[in-house]
Amino acid sequence: MRRRLLVQGDGGALQGVLHDAGFWPALGDGKVTSLRRILIWISGASAGLGAALAATIPFENAELVDLSRRGGTPGAHHVAVDLADPESWPVVENDFQQRIETSDPDLVVFIHNAGTLTPLGSADRVDTAEYTRNVLLNSASAQVLGHSFLRAVAGRECEQHLIMISSGAAIRPHEGEASYCAGKAGIDQWVRTVGLEQRRRSPGCRVISVSPGALDTDMQAELRACSPDEVPESTRFREMEALGRLSKPENVARIIWSLLDRDLETGSVLHVHDVT
Ligand SMILES: NC(=O)c1ccc[n+]([C@@H]2O[C@H](COP(=O)([O-])OP(=O)(O)OC[C@H]3O[C@@H](n4cnc5c(N)ncnc54)[C@H](OP(=O)(O)O)[C@@H]3O)[C@@H](O)[C@H]2O)c1
Repeated sequence: MRRRLLVQGDGGALQGVLHDAGFWPALGDGKVTSLRRILIWISGASAGLGAALAATIPFENAELVDLSRRGGTPGAHHVAVDLADPESWPVVENDFQQRIETSDPDLVVFIHNAGTLTPLGSADRVDTAEYTRNVLLNSASAQVLGHSFLRAVAGRECEQHLIMISSGAAIRPHEGEASYCAGKAGIDQWVRTVGLEQRRRSPGCRVISVSPGALDTDMQAELRACSPDEVPESTRFREMEALGRLSKPENVARIIWSLLDRDLETGSVLHVHDVT
């Protein structure tokens, strides 16, 4: 049985289709009260898009885990981790395994959203320690934590979703953001490849990457503060802000949640602007 789910947001109504086996006893206020046991991890749920994703979870009874340094996300367990430090990655892997083992969930979701632009500037000028942290967070943590999540859900019968937050920078080179662009391009290719692998599994994990578009967050403010000499793209984003063209994170977060119920092939790489 498939049931229509209506999720209301200030950006309008989004419709999706739930793959439903009679688990959904009530609908209301844009959230679903489910009898299913639902486990959700969001990296970087302390701010920006991650906080918006946490605030717009379309299930009332989901267990939410925030993987970040600051924490403070309402209703979330905080696993305090600096994901630019490889020593934090086994901590996250243990958290995946233990919570899944303990709660035997029906639905598991990991949204890897944490990312950084720091240090902005040409690759031949920026600080090496900061550059290394950028590479570890944007490139390496995505692949290693993605791998850890796949290991934790492998062989389980539950519905499984891994969503990587990418960027238009995966496709378009932006001067002054080389490691960020490379990290996002790497995420997209990782998703395409792992998607091929997961198609051989049953049920398998649905792995997708999604670019959220330009958002009104701290990351954007950091970009706009740069000089056009070092980061030419900053001019375009100052103009977008002046014209009110930056998206509200909550609106984009609702679109991302709607992807859970869409008929997308594992390994899909998409942009929120493609989602109608
Ligand atoms: N903003 C945009 O226009 C835009 C456009 C395209 C793609 N994106 C992507 O969207 C995602 C969210 O961006 P945003 O704009 O919301 O960024 P943001 O406002 O700067 O928030 C970044 C989040 O990532 C977490 N984070 C950063 N470094 C971390 C670290 N070392 N360890 C653990 N967590 C860390 C932060 O948490 P703590 O500081 O608490 O650790 C924070 O919750 C990123 O992947 C970004 O690349 C954004």
